Amino acid sequence: MTPKGLFVSFEGIDGSGKSTQARRLAETLNARGHETVLTREPGGSPGAEEIRALVLQGDPDRWSAETELLLFTAARRDHLERTIRPALDAHRIVICDRFADSTRMYQGLSRGDLRGAVDQLHDLMIGQEPNVTILIDMDPAAGLARAKARQTAEERFEDFGVALQEDMRAGFLALAQEFPDRIRVIDGNRSEEAVAQDVLDAVETCLP
Ligand code: ADP
Ligand code: TYD
Repeated sequence: MTPKGLFVSFEGIDGSGKSTQARRLAETLNARGHETVLTREPGGSPGAEEIRALVLQGDPDRWSAETELLLFTAARRDHLERTIRPALDAHRIVICDRFADSTRMYQGLSRGDLRGAVDQLHDLMIGQEPNVTILIDMDPAAGLARAKARQTAEERFEDFGVALQEDMRAGFLALAQEFPDRIRVIDGNRSEEAVAQDVLDAVETCLP
């Protein structure tokens, strides 16, 4: 725990179980008397939720990778200003379903190499990393099948198909090697309970 609360993010491909595990972690920590704020990206503040609809709905070709990068960064900046920083200042545990690592992957890798631009914009406009990131590693086809079974309007990225999921999985595992002190890799191809126990073990080491 830093003097200003604890910032936990969940990352992984679509359908890997991030939302399920983020919710379970919040419930477990709340039951133990911690004050948590469960939030998500894109979104997590009223303005960022409006941007969410722009980036997650519609045709896969609706935006270029560069335009998307600006939209996701604008949403993150608003989320940081209005939700994350106030919660950390109030010493809460922020549990965020996706954060900047998703931009490093989806906008940085998916359509050419934009990682340099992603990093520059992050340094300029965000400048904050989670204290700990849980990467739920998952078979790409199984993740996509789980995600597609939800049948929501927010399928723009899922419509890029399994090849994108495969690239993202490999990219996330490489990112875990780039940030070994922050990112913990957990095998998501197991029961919800087994994954939840590993998540709790990883987060507990960061609690006071
Ligand atoms: P994400 O947020 O990573 O897209 P979700 O938590 O929404 O993933 O999970 C996607 C779907 O898979 C949901 O229907 C959820 O109930 C289901 N699910 C989550 N975790 C597991 C698990 N360990 N085993 C089987 N199904 C799961
Ligand atoms: P999310 O709602 O977490 O989808 P899922 O539950 O299927 O994992 O995120 C929706 C999509 O947004 C996901 O396919 C990844 C994409 N995304 C980016 O491309 N860049 C980003 O910075 C973020 C936060 C998400």
